Amino acid sequence: MKKIKCNSYTVEAGNLELSSFPKLLEETYKDVRKVIVVDENTHDFCLEYLLTAFPTLEDAEVILLPTGEENKVMEVCFQVLEALSDYGIVRSDLIITLGGGVVSDMGGFIASIYKRGLPCIHIPTSLLGMVDASLGGKTGIDLGNFKNQIGTFHDPVAVFVDQRFLATLPEEEWRSGFAEVLKHALIDDKKEWDRLIASKQDELFSEENVTKLLERSIAIKAKVVNEDPTEKGIRKSLNFGHTIGHAIEGYYLDLNPISHGNCVALGIIAESYLSNQKGTLETEELNEIVQVMMALYPCPEDLLTGVGIMIELMKNDKKNDQHGVRTCFLDKIGQCSWNHLISENDIKAALNYLYQAYYKN
Ligand SMILES: NC(=O)c1ccc[n+]([C@@H]2O[C@H](COP(=O)([O-])OP(=O)(O)OC[C@H]3O[C@@H](n4cnc5c(N)ncnc54)[C@H](O)[C@@H]3O)[C@@H](O)[C@H]2O)c1
Repeated sequence: MKKIKCNSYTVEAGNLELSSFPKLLEETYKDVRKVIVVDENTHDFCLEYLLTAFPTLEDAEVILLPTGEENKVMEVCFQVLEALSDYGIVRSDLIITLGGGVVSDMGGFIASIYKRGLPCIHIPTSLLGMVDASLGGKTGIDLGNFKNQIGTFHDPVAVFVDQRFLATLPEEEWRSGFAEVLKHALIDDKKEWDRLIASKQDELFSEENVTKLLERSIAIKAKVVNEDPTEKGIRKSLNFGHTIGHAIEGYYLDLNPISHGNCVALGIIAESYLSNQKGTLETEELNEIVQVMMALYPCPEDLLTGVGIMIELMKNDKKNDQHGVRTCFLDKIGQCSWNHLISENDIKAALNYLYQAYYKN
């Protein structure tokens, strides 16, 4: 069992039955009620295992969230809060999230506000959830097309990463999660980037490779979060690719939703271009990044029709201040800097570059 400290809690990566999860259930949380939050897919693919492997959970209340980013909204939270109240859940009871980033973001948010905060355990089931969303204590929901505009910092009691859940993850979701794995390497670890891009596609997600990839990616995120839990400095580097990525995600949310990781990958191309234009990232490294991302992630053909709305979405990004839109730049592969001010023209040029990279022929 690999144990990685993250803020006030530990992330355990390995077989859930051999982790400290059963002990938490049988000792610390023996006499409290448990609520398991799932979405439609993790209800069908992951819940049965949990209930069978841990019989103490057979009396748990199960809260079923509708699947998808478009449901990471306050209206759904209200329904869950009312259900918790109807079930008579009290502040000492335990919430367990079993799902991808939408389930841990929304389940964690609900855990943080219901009765001013309940303990919560995350069991991520998507690659993206395992390497990113379940770690670091950020919870959040969307407000209209604005991503994660409402949220809290609420550390879970523990996070348990068991890669066996990934057996049922659709291929597109593997790729989506892999974008955050690549981002972690880009901002912090050139060797890991080189290793990841050298792997043959069919070997990349072999069991052994996934174990390594999870451990390394979790370690990068945990290191950054430990250094700066409340995002005053270096933690902002985790947002690389997300200023433009979130705007793309928000724009398409009610048109034709694109996965979070795919949007981050497109944001990585656009923000790498800006890093190059502003003189931080070498052209050779920019080209390498663009090549890797383009081989894995599609770009919508009508991207440029959304430029105006994307700029408006970026103006509301959480990282901004009174001076305007702030973003991260790559200094080189493996090193990132943050708080860079970018203009509307910069954003337009970056989106145009992104589009041209895919469709110039
Ligand atoms: N809080 C943070 O620090 C943080 C960091 C990164 C991303 N996020 C958020 O995470 C979300 C994206 O996470 P995601 O990609 O996991 O999205 P998701 O939760 O929507 O999961 C993606 C899809 O995979 C399905 N799924 C999950 N596990 C499965 C399994 N084992 N088998 C079959 N299907 C499974 C889900 O039902 C869904 O359809 C976004 O809302 C993003 O904003 C949060």
